[in-house]
Amino acid sequence: MRLNLIVSQWLRKTLVEAVADGKSGGNRPQSEFLDFLRFFRSWISNPLRVAGVAPSSDSLARLITSEISALDAPVLELGPGTGVFTRALLARGVPETELTLLEFGNDFLPGLNRRFPQARIVQMDAALIAEADLFADEAAGAVISGLPLLSMSPRKQEAILAGAFEVLRPGGAFYQFTYGPRCPVPRVILDRLGLDAERLGKTVRNLPPAAVYCITRR
Ligand SMILES: C[S@@+](CC[C@H](N)C(=O)[O-])C[C@H]1O[C@@H](n2cnc3c(N)ncnc32)[C@H](O)[C@@H]1O
Repeated sequence: MRLNLIVSQWLRKTLVEAVADGKSGGNRPQSEFLDFLRFFRSWISNPLRVAGVAPSSDSLARLITSEISALDAPVLELGPGTGVFTRALLARGVPETELTLLEFGNDFLPGLNRRFPQARIVQMDAALIAEADLFADEAAGAVISGLPLLSMSPRKQEAILAGAFEVLRPGGAFYQFTYGPRCPVPRVILDRLGLDAERLGKTVRNLPPAAVYCITRR
C-alpha cells in the first residue's frame, strides 16, 4: 500500500515536471521523465549493470551526500547514471571542477557530458580504478558509489573497494547505497581490506527503499 503511494506520487511528479518542461520550451536543466525513460531503456538492455528500473530519488541523493562538503574535494563518483547524486554533490558545495564521474555505460555518457561540462568524466570499469592513476595530484576526500555491488562477484567488489581506498586520503570515506537489508560488501572483504561499514540511514522515499553505508578504514 505504502509502496503504491510512493510509486504513484513519483509518477505524478515526473509527469507534471515533464509537462512543465515542454511548456517552458525545455529550459529546465533536467527532465526526470526523460531520465526515467533513458534509465529504463538502459536497464532493459543490461539489467545486471544498471540494476534498477529508475534513477535514485532526491531523498536518497541527499542521504548519500549528507556528510560531504567542499572540504572533501576532489570527490569521485562511481556509476553516476543520469547524475542524481552528482547534482546533490554540487548542492553540497563540491565544485563541479572537483568531480570525477566514472561511468561504464555508453547510454549515460552524452547526458553526463552535457549536464556537467566542467566535471572530469571517465568511461571505465570501476574495478580498474587502481590502475587508472586518476588522483595522482591530490587524493580524493570521498567516494560516492551508485554501483550495483550486489550483482557483482566478490572478486570485482574487492577490486573496486581496494581501488577506491587507494585514491582516498586518510580519513576519506566510501558511501554506498543498497536495496538489501545489510551492507552489500561481505564482512570477509571488509576484514581483508581493513575496513569498517556503518549504516548512515535509510529512506523509503526511493523506488525501492534504500539504505546507505559509510565505509572507512579501521
Ligand atoms: C543502479 S545504477 C545507479 C545510477 C545513479 N547513481 C542513480 O543512483 O540513479 C548503476 C550505475 O552504475 C553503472 N555501472 C555498473 N557497473 C559499473 C562498473 N563496473 N563501472 C562503472 N560504472 C558501472 C551503471 O552503468 C549505472 O549507471
